[in-house]
Amino acid sequence: MEQREESSRSGASKSLLRVLAGEALAPPPFWLMRQAGRYLPEYRALRARARGFLDLCFTPELAVEATLQPIRRFGMDAAILFSDILVVPHALGQAVDFREGEGPVLEPVRTEEAVTALEAEGTTERLTPVYEAVRQVKERLPRETALIGFAGAPWTVATYMVEGGTSRDFARTKSWAFAEPEGFGALIGKITDATVAHLSAQIEAGADAVQLFDSWAGALDEQGFRAYVIAPTRSIVAELKKRHPGTPVIGFPRGAGLMYRAYAGETGVSALGLDTSVPPMIARKTLQSLMPVQGNLDPAVLLAGGARLDEAVVALVACFRDGPYIFNLGHGVLPDTPVAHVARVVELLRRVP
Ligand code: CP3
Repeated sequence: MEQREESSRSGASKSLLRVLAGEALAPPPFWLMRQAGRYLPEYRALRARARGFLDLCFTPELAVEATLQPIRRFGMDAAILFSDILVVPHALGQAVDFREGEGPVLEPVRTEEAVTALEAEGTTERLTPVYEAVRQVKERLPRETALIGFAGAPWTVATYMVEGGTSRDFARTKSWAFAEPEGFGALIGKITDATVAHLSAQIEAGADAVQLFDSWAGALDEQGFRAYVIAPTRSIVAELKKRHPGTPVIGFPRGAGLMYRAYAGETGVSALGLDTSVPPMIARKTLQSLMPVQGNLDPAVLLAGGARLDEAVVALVACFRDGPYIFNLGHGVLPDTPVAHVARVVELLRRVP
């Protein structure tokens, strides 16, 4: 893919932004989803200082520290803001709690009345500590390190809001969406608006790029995927491009499978996050030919380490190196991952000729 002009204008010194503008770089820039988190001893120590997980997210000093920890240790080419996709439901007025060993627990939203009660106005005012953290991280990052802001995509956020937490089959969310598309559509609409506002505020505070996490995109059939993954993503991207034309948007529709192509072609995203199940050689032909790709080392291969890890890293770089490519995992770092295995990945990447 040809190098576009933007890369020389905006942030030319940041390798992540050069690749997002279409350049192929060797070695490729890298960062890891969930690069800040429980696999890091310094994160566990910080976590012990906070009252709860949301306290970490809403205390700028702590969120800044968590964001910078992996950068200090490994020198990734991008920092991702330390926060969570569930700060948006929280800002909409839904009760959100993170319980030890249980994951997130939300007071479920399952009726049109509950959707009406969500406080669509003023969400960014309730999230000012998050934007303060973005500003402080931006000041403290090395010049060559990009800062990624993020949000959950509306479908994935809706599953947590409706189910009241993590789910195996999304039965309530899907049956509501399919039986009462108007009522469910109102929920998707409110999340979409709050997401545009949240991502815009992160960009205004200094985020160089943003990523939309659609972790449960793979739970939908084609019609559902078009209605609840592609359509809301397309409106978010269109609005962001209007307000912040120079800021790239990475889309991560995890589990999209054969719908990755439609997602790439129809949403307007600038780059695609590939999940673990996407075969690299197929992605190179069908997706990297359309736009920059990011991914997709299996987090369990990183956890296992050894020869399998070395081979997988080398193979990924060999596959994608002729086009715009950002090295990453296919999903988040697993909490038991040895720090030495991450260090090994960095060593292998830095050696790429
Ligand atoms: O990537 C990063 O380093 C930035 C921070 C980040 C977190 N969550 C911190 C976090 C990001 C980008 C997220 C996104 C997120 N949050 C997603 C999308 C990505 C994905 O993993 O699919 C989702 C679905 C969530 C919702 C969420 N947050 C769940 C289901 C859980 C509980 C599971 C778990 O891992 O504990 C969280 C909590 C959470 N978010 C933690 C971290 C570091 C662990 C909380 C702790 O420290 O106890």
